[in-house]
Amino acid sequence: MPIIAPSILAANFLHLEKDIKMINNSDADWIHIDVMDGVFVPNISFGAPMVRYIKKVSQKPLDVHLMIVQPERDIQEFRDAGADILTVHYEACTHLHRAIHEIKNTGAKVGVSLNPHMPVIVLKDIISDIDLVLIMSVNPGFGNQVFILNTYHKLKEVKKMALKKNPNLIIEVDGGVNLENGANIIQSGANALVSGSYILKNKNPKSAISFFKSL
Ligand code: DX5
Ligand code: ZN
Repeated sequence: MPIIAPSILAANFLHLEKDIKMINNSDADWIHIDVMDGVFVPNISFGAPMVRYIKKVSQKPLDVHLMIVQPERDIQEFRDAGADILTVHYEACTHLHRAIHEIKNTGAKVGVSLNPHMPVIVLKDIISDIDLVLIMSVNPGFGNQVFILNTYHKLKEVKKMALKKNPNLIIEVDGGVNLENGANIIQSGANALVSGSYILKNKNPKSAISFFKSL
């Protein structure tokens, strides 16, 4: 069964507790938290203080997606705030290998994310060092965008690489995931799905989560 990580970017931030409790009472595995700095991506969301508040209410592990420049500077702060999984962007790290090991040293699981234009081959020399790869299926920065079809091809490639070099790798997809494309995404090699608007704007978010879980 795939790991399901609802993204609270699509929540009403004034009523965040309500959505977190819904996720607590659902089949979801993680809560996906999108941190945006307005520099790496053209949008600002929130930082570590928000993660700390979410941690107090969440009964699910926090999957923290750092869409920020120089994430190395903030790794410890996000870990202290309660991140269980910390994902940095390949495009944001000049010294990616060092950043990966700094995250590992905090005891968090470590992920690396690739923007839609970035070929998966760039993972070759670090794929054995990481727990998770986050394949962006939209250009990061906003929720509710359209899934980029080339993602299917990338998933097949990353799956092949993982089978050779890191069979336990979690392959997570983020952006535009919905009822129509979920099954195809899983068949192409993903074993973890992030979904923001499809879940949180749904009339019945818990059954949307259960649907993804059944794929
Ligand atoms: C986009 C974020 C996503 C976003 C997904 O930059 O990384 O996690 O919340 O939202 P949907 O599922 O609405 O595309
Ligand atoms: Zn995300």
